[in-house]
Amino acid sequence: MPLPEQLIPAKDVYALRHFRLGWWALLLFTALGLALETLHGFKVGAYLDVSNQTRRLMWTLAHSHGTLLSIVNLMFSVVLRTFPEINVGTLRVTSRCLIVSTVLLPGGFFLGGIVVYSGDPGLGIVLVPVGAVLFMVAIFLLVRAIAAPASRQGAPTPSREKRPVRS
Ligand code: HEM
Ligand code: HEM
Repeated sequence: MPLPEQLIPAKDVYALRHFRLGWWALLLFTALGLALETLHGFKVGAYLDVSNQTRRLMWTLAHSHGTLLSIVNLMFSVVLRTFPEINVGTLRVTSRCLIVSTVLLPGGFFLGGIVVYSGDPGLGIVLVPVGAVLFMVAIFLLVRAIAAPASRQGAPTPSREKRPVRS
């Protein structure tokens, strides 16, 4: 019988969440790649004309960052599974920041390309720096959680531990 969710270790719940999100997002953003390919195939002017270069750049960036951030989510999931000592204290915030940045970073690029104003992206582009900050917060918290594993908290640092005496 499967365990009720409150009995599953927090790490495993987050690992599964990011594993699912990573693959769904990868499907979505590679589909965007396929859509861009189609715009090339049909030589659509709204995408390929020199006057629409900004739109092309924005949508390419939405596709490339979306696919790459999906893979970062998969990596996060793998880290949670393979690094059992990780400090789970900040896991909730780390996970939220990573999820929201996976939406805002490519989403901002995409929205920024819908309406362009003589070379400038649309207002949606303001979501990009917000997503960027959240992404970096997630990385910082993850690095800290790895650097100070739960099992080592309060334990003596290696330099203070007694070393075995060699005869
Ligand atoms: C893991 C999967 C993928 C990754 C990491 C990825 C990454 C990238 C990156 C970094 C670029 C930018 C290249 C540059 O600016 O020089 C790009 C462009 C592009 N990708 Fe992907 N891609 C992926 C899958 C796909 C798929 C499945 C398709 C379509 C079937 C696709 C179609 C395109 C197209 C058409 C462009 C060029 C857009 C343009 O310049 O107009 N990509 N991709
Ligand atoms: C921290 C948030 C990030 C911001 C604000 C950001 C912003 C940008 C911008 C503005 C460009 C376009 C450069 C140009 O063509 O002039 C770019 C390109 C690129 N970035 Fe990022 N980026 C971020 C994170 C990432 C991450 C995490 C990855 C990979 C995992 C990545 C991979 C790439 C790649 C491969 C390109 C070239 C692809 C292309 O031309 O479409 N970026 N980025």
